[in-house]
Amino acid sequence: MNVIEVKHLGRVYGSGHTAVTAVDDINLAIAAGDILLIMGPSGSGKTTLISLMGTLLTPTTGRVRIDGEDTAALSDKQLAGLRLRKLGFMFQSFNLLSSLTAQANVALPLLLDGVDRKTARQRARVLLANLHLENRMNSLPKNLSGGEKQRVAVARALANEPMLVLADEPTANLDSKTGMEVMQLLCQTACLEKRAVIIVSHDPRLTDVVKRVITIEDGRLTREEVGGHDATCPHYHPIVNHAVKRT
Ligand SMILES: Nc1ncnc2c1ncn2[C@@H]1O[C@H](COP(=O)(O)OP(=O)(O)O)[C@@H](O)[C@H]1O
Ligand SMILES: [Mg+2]
Repeated sequence: MNVIEVKHLGRVYGSGHTAVTAVDDINLAIAAGDILLIMGPSGSGKTTLISLMGTLLTPTTGRVRIDGEDTAALSDKQLAGLRLRKLGFMFQSFNLLSSLTAQANVALPLLLDGVDRKTARQRARVLLANLHLENRMNSLPKNLSGGEKQRVAVARALANEPMLVLADEPTANLDSKTGMEVMQLLCQTACLEKRAVIIVSHDPRLTDVVKRVITIEDGRLTREEVGGHDATCPHYHPIVNHAVKRT
């Protein structure tokens, strides 16, 4: 089964003669382990598309199915639960909580989902170690570099073992070398753990770390190509993770 499927997806902002069609009849299917890069010029509808896929925005037309479920049939509360358990989000501005350590930021989504404190801290520690942050567990965000903050955000997005990670311009506030390293870590981890990833970015170098590249222009999907992920991935040897048990 596909992790996420969108059919004839469309979104219009406003109405009448000021209406803007931001996403126009997009069809996509993404399976477990797929890593998709969405490219396209500024204003082409990338943020709107990824927000629709993350159930943060309601479509004007068409459908979003996540894990086989039609999201239009779910209540707001059910959608919040789906986002917490099945999706992981990453943003351009990192969005870490400034009063919490790196480890506590990563453990937070697990605690919100009812995982016990010890398991949550353990999972956070393993994730951060796999992202080469073993020496930053107890640091506050203000004492981390941009690249370190974004790696903490990667760990947080993966904490709940989401089936799908959604990242909108996650490298925009990083220099290009650091951005590439962080995205490579995200893609390798996701690939090994069989999670699907969707990244929106302007950076054409990211085509090397993803499996599929789609281009959107004026809200329409205009191209799909194969990325270079498989050539760069197999060198990664993570610490074995213990599955999270929920009560
Ligand atoms: N909240 C909004 N209200 C009205 N128009 C919007 C809104 N958000 C985006 N748009 C318009 O929709 C189009 C697509 O925007 P967006 O999805 O942000 O593109 P991208 O992320 O590719 O830059 C643009 O023309 C933008 O001006
Ligand atoms: Mg955008």
